[in-house]
Amino acid sequence: MPYYTKLGKLPSKRHIQFRRPDGKLYAEEVFGTEGFVGPTSTLYHINPPTQVIGWKQLYSTKVEYVERDTMRMRHVKSAPLPPKGDAVTGRVVLFGNNDVEISVCVPAEPMKYHFKNASADECFFIHFGSGTVFTMFGALKFGPRDYIVIPKGTIYQFVFDEPKDGEPDPRFLLMESVNGSHILPPPRYLSKKTAQFLEHAPYCERDLRTPEMPMTFDKKGKYEVRIKSRDLVHSYQYSYHPLDIVGWDGCYYPYCFNIDDFSPIVGKHHMPPPTHQTFEAHNFVICSFCPRPLDFHPQAIVVPYNHSNLDSDEVLYYVEGNYKARKGIEVGSLSLHPQGIPHGPHPGTPEATIGATHTNELAVMCDTFAPLYPTQAALELDDLHYPRSWEHGWDPTDAATSNGHANGNGAPMKGTKGTKGSTSAKAGAKKSGRLVETKSAGTAGKPKKTSAARATGARGSKAANTWD
Ligand SMILES: [Fe+2]
Repeated sequence: MPYYTKLGKLPSKRHIQFRRPDGKLYAEEVFGTEGFVGPTSTLYHINPPTQVIGWKQLYSTKVEYVERDTMRMRHVKSAPLPPKGDAVTGRVVLFGNNDVEISVCVPAEPMKYHFKNASADECFFIHFGSGTVFTMFGALKFGPRDYIVIPKGTIYQFVFDEPKDGEPDPRFLLMESVNGSHILPPPRYLSKKTAQFLEHAPYCERDLRTPEMPMTFDKKGKYEVRIKSRDLVHSYQYSYHPLDIVGWDGCYYPYCFNIDDFSPIVGKHHMPPPTHQTFEAHNFVICSFCPRPLDFHPQAIVVPYNHSNLDSDEVLYYVEGNYKARKGIEVGSLSLHPQGIPHGPHPGTPEATIGATHTNELAVMCDTFAPLYPTQAALELDDLHYPRSWEHGWDPTDAATSNGHANGNGAPMKGTKGTKGSTSAKAGAKKSGRLVETKSAGTAGKPKKTSAARATGARGSKAANTWD
């Protein structure tokens, strides 16, 4: 969607005769947004896209949120989610509001139909698995750590490869713009004159993988396209293959972007989350926290300062990293830090990570400008002890015997078993020494003082996680 491109056969001008080999006209479709003044593509179908032979309602997609009046930090462990459904029916919404729905999917079976989300843009993050998503704009091959942005109205079908021995089941995170807005690169990354990615942007056109052949399936038969709209999935019947486009051009299309192609921007001092911004839509942003050198001021505190995201709720999805370094966090964990509560490094971490030169973290963040609510599915995966993990001297090994605060309504946060007799600052720092991944005992704790050393890879003596 960010820039003009094209694929397949096109006539020399818009809205002129363009004929199939049998002499009949191809059916032109202007795929427009925002009243035809937003991103648009022009498509040429073998069959008129208006031809459908039946439709019915299938099932509701209305999300029910719970604990809407509860404000507390949350930690949802999604790793135990069992495989379920397909790449559409297997989606489990965990958090959301009127702007965005955040779900995790571990598909168990192939899609036997095509799908169109007529209500929202979809931004997938493929955690595990590879395959091809066949779309009306062409095919996108994907693999682990790929974002796949599929704009509203696109007909598609996911086909996952069979995992090889030892490979995990396919799994993806999905952020869906249920407010109808489009998920786009941040405007500040783009030239106002040409929409070209600017030099300071952490990625550019060369990093985006646009649809390729095969695109056109000239087949007759019975095909189902399931359309999500109005909080329902509707089943539409086609008498021809719905991916029947022979050519298109424009600025509205799906694409892939691998998170490893995001070029993190680092600084002498801690860089704030917008530095890691990757996409945005109305009322939410998506950021990529990637492995990178850490701040290079000789006295830098390399973990984030405590911060109050006064206008945002913040969800982090943990992809890879030293998860033992953040209490209780696992691969596939999602943390929610709501507006209204400051958050920051765990006790002792700032001291313990001094001298860390790089981070191996990989996480995807979704920040919203309106409160996020959990679903019942999220509550069933909720780590009730997480809100206490900042408590000075808190020890996760004591959590099983301590009073969690399940209801979020002011249950005890202090004086519970396991926190009695809080440790001194020194002891806290010692405990939190576990928060640091040290690869070389000989250099651990000795800050590297030159940025050159940090830039060479020789610096890799000490790593720290710095999730914001
Ligand atoms: Fe944060």
